[in-house]
Amino acid sequence: MSQPNAGIIGTGHAYPTGVLTNADLEKLVDTSDEWITSRTGIKQRRKAAPGEYTSQFAVKAGRQALERAGLDASDIDLIVCATTTPDQILPSTGCLIQAELGASNAAAYDLFAACSGFLYGLTTVEPMIRTGQISRALVIGAEVLTKYVDYTDRSTCVIFGDGAGAVVLAPVAADKGILATKIRSDGRFAEQLYAPGGGTRMGLTHESIDNGMNFFKMKGNELFKIAVRSMAEISREMLDKAGYTKEDIKVFIPHQANQRITDAVAKNLGVPDEVVYSNIAQHGNTSSASIPIALNECVESGKISEGDLVLLAAFGGGVTWGATLIRF
Ligand code: ACO
Repeated sequence: MSQPNAGIIGTGHAYPTGVLTNADLEKLVDTSDEWITSRTGIKQRRKAAPGEYTSQFAVKAGRQALERAGLDASDIDLIVCATTTPDQILPSTGCLIQAELGASNAAAYDLFAACSGFLYGLTTVEPMIRTGQISRALVIGAEVLTKYVDYTDRSTCVIFGDGAGAVVLAPVAADKGILATKIRSDGRFAEQLYAPGGGTRMGLTHESIDNGMNFFKMKGNELFKIAVRSMAEISREMLDKAGYTKEDIKVFIPHQANQRITDAVAKNLGVPDEVVYSNIAQHGNTSSASIPIALNECVESGKISEGDLVLLAAFGGGVTWGATLIRF
C-alpha cells in the first residue's frame, strides 16, 4: 500500500456564552457600530467570563472532534494546542487538556504562532502521521484573547474574541487529506503586534501592569498589507505545488482577521465570493482558533463534504503565515 496522507477525520468547536456586541463597545470607547462593521465586518465577539480559561474551551472542542471521529481520548498519540493565551505559564495548556480529556497515551505540547498557530500545528504534525511516527493527533487552536485586550484602546478592543476549534488528524488514502502545506515567519515585524510585558524581558511588575504592558498592541494598518500579500502568495504556492488551480477550490477559509483582508485576499487569488467562508461578523478575530472554528462550522452546515478541496490560509503576529490545501 502506498504511504498514507494525514487527513482530518473529526472536527469540533466551542466558545464562551458571553457575547460582546458593537453596541457594548460603544459604551466603553469612542467607536461606533458603523465604524466597526464597515472597517472590520465584526458585529459581535464571544468573551470569556472572569472564571473561564483557555483549556476549558479547548477540551470541549477536542471532545466534539473525537466524538465525530468515533475515537476515545485514549486513542490519541499527540495533542498540540496552538495558543497565544495559555491557561498559565507552566505547565503547557496541552498537558492540562490531556489530563481533562483522559488522553492517557498522548504526548502534549503548546505551539505559539499567534493567528497562524493552527496551520503551524497541521504542518508540523502532518509528516509525523504520514511517516507512521504517530497514528492519531488532536490539533487544537484555543484562545481567550479578551483577557489581553486593553478595553481603553479602540484600535484593538473591537477586534478580538474567544473560542476554540479542534481537529483529529489520522492516516487517510494518499489522494486525500493534506496535499500541500507550508508555514513561514518574519520576526523583523515582531513589533507590529505584540504584548511586551509578562515574559523574561519585561517581567510582571506593578509598573508594567500599570502601564498596560501585558496588553496587545497592534499597528493594524501596516499588518493589513503584509497579511493580504503573504496569504495570497503562499496560497497560490500551495495550489501550484499540489497541481491544482483556483477553480478547483470548493471552500476557501482564510484566518478571520478582518472582512476587508478576507475580501482582498480572495480578490488577489481570483476566488469567487461564494467559495470564501466568513464568520467574522459573529466571532471577531479568535487568532489560532479562527480557522478550526470555521472549518467545523463548514462541516456542520454541509458546506464541506467528502471529496471537497479546501484551502486554508493564515496570517498572524510574529509575523507568521501559512497555507494548507486539503482534500476531505
Ligand atoms: N472606532 C473608531 N475609529 C477607530 C477605531 C475604532 N474602533 N479604531 C481606529 N480608529 C480610527 C483611528 O484612530 C484612525 O483615526 P485617524 O485617521 O483620526 O488617526 C482611523 O480610525 C483609521 O485607523 P486605521 O488603523 O488606519 O484603520 P484601519 O482601516 O486600518 O482598520 C484595523 C484598523 C481594523 C485594525 C485593520 O488595520 C486591521 O484589521 N488590520 C489587520 C489586523 C491583523 O491582521 N492582525 C494580525 C492577525 S491578529 C493576531 O495575530 C492575534
